[in-house]
Amino acid sequence: MDGAALMHGAVDRRAFIQRAGWVGLGAFGVIGHGGPLGLGAIRPAEAAADVREILLETRQVKWELSPGRTITAMAYNGRVPGPEIRVKEGERLRVVLKNSLGEPTTIHWHGVDVPNSMDGVPGITQKPVPPGGTFVYEFEARPAGTRWYHTHFQEHRQMDLGLVAPLIIEPAGTEPFPFDREYTLVLDDWATGAGRALPATREGTAGGRGEMGGMMGGGMMGGGMMGRGMGGMMGGGHHSTPAYDTMTINGKAYPATEPLRVRKGERVRLRLINASADHTHVIRLAGHQLRVTHTDGNPLVEAVAVDAVPIAPSERYDVLVNADRPGSWWLYCAQPGHAAAGEQALLVYDGREGHRPDAVTEGTAGLHLWHYSLGQGRDVLAPASGTVRSFSQTLSGGMMGSDAWTINGKQYPSTDPIAVKRGERVRVRLGNMSMEAHPMHLHGQSFAVLAVSGQRLVHPLVKDSVDVEAHMGAVDIEFTAHNPGDWFFHCHKPMHMEGGMIALVKIAG
Ligand code: C2O
Ligand code: CU
Repeated sequence: MDGAALMHGAVDRRAFIQRAGWVGLGAFGVIGHGGPLGLGAIRPAEAAADVREILLETRQVKWELSPGRTITAMAYNGRVPGPEIRVKEGERLRVVLKNSLGEPTTIHWHGVDVPNSMDGVPGITQKPVPPGGTFVYEFEARPAGTRWYHTHFQEHRQMDLGLVAPLIIEPAGTEPFPFDREYTLVLDDWATGAGRALPATREGTAGGRGEMGGMMGGGMMGGGMMGRGMGGMMGGGHHSTPAYDTMTINGKAYPATEPLRVRKGERVRLRLINASADHTHVIRLAGHQLRVTHTDGNPLVEAVAVDAVPIAPSERYDVLVNADRPGSWWLYCAQPGHAAAGEQALLVYDGREGHRPDAVTEGTAGLHLWHYSLGQGRDVLAPASGTVRSFSQTLSGGMMGSDAWTINGKQYPSTDPIAVKRGERVRVRLGNMSMEAHPMHLHGQSFAVLAVSGQRLVHPLVKDSVDVEAHMGAVDIEFTAHNPGDWFFHCHKPMHMEGGMIALVKIAG
């Protein structure tokens, strides 16, 4: 509910048409005939076809991250992040993408079991949508959970410049963890060139093995006001990873972040989405515990209370907060430097406005942190009918500052595909021989995390992205190949993906 206040909600067809001046655009066939509003009234598409239709337009915009820090961004419907789309599980969603950028784009529906042709991977599932072009995505929204959507064309530029947004699929049945109020929070890292570069996330922390903050790697950028134009990657420091200097919550850096309002006694659900290119965030709410209820949108058996939640790029966690300590508190990232770079917002109880809390406490010393082996996932994967197939992938690269990132020694498109048949159970052992963590994401279906660094999880977590820790980190995953097609399996750090860390999972129908 209140998430909508923060995110401004999804733009429905009517609002979009009015705003973008698309009235009379008959191509999509939704102009009504007569009725109480008179000729030309717009009939909501869902009434007619039982399809929920959303229009998204990609366009270059000026976006103010915080007062005095305005960048040239890429946006869906003029907003960064893009509008939150909210649907019911099983509902048919039709998204008409109009590309008003000066370059091609596509949309990927991250964590959604879409048909292969709707997956948004240029060159694999569709042609890129050219400047001025239109593409219609249509699929049934499942499974329920905190999903998201983002560009899949040159992610190292387009995702970095703002083409990311939440997609919330509400369960068709009862909500396993009831709540009174919710907020969706999209975390992102920005290389504006106007600030001090933050240390890169090297080790990762999501699997519970890494060190906080990693090593210094970004290099210190000068304070030059170069601004980041389209494609103006700041090339400082470690090979070509941009020098990230600004951290945002819902497209804004503190003091521009929107405060979260709560009332005493409420159960508040936070949907945390890490849309960052490079950084793991460690989210904490001062004065409160966070009860983790969902991993990448998929419910746990029971909530896990922790002090802070490390979130690798592309991961999502849903957490519940019991609002039982009236006051005004910081919600922030505990990674060194992140809060100061903008990643903090106030959580204010009704009646406690105007009270400013003390500065945030950086670091995680003494904090009980979430990690994979704390959670118990539900057994929700499709049942397998075929045999069990096992594969192993060694992740390497980045040596001596190289931009090359490999799977079993090869760079995409030369990497070996995982070729299986529909219905088979597929196990993949991921081993990380590199010095950086890799959040590996599978398209088209979720997987179970069976083991982390050799330690079996008694109740495997259900996820679609798993952070494989640096320096010999290992993760075993398993999924049922239920969705036929050619699917990307890749590191979600766009620079690593660009460097070749992608393999195809080919599921023969
Ligand atoms: Cu979230 Cu291939 O991506
Ligand atoms: Cu990687």
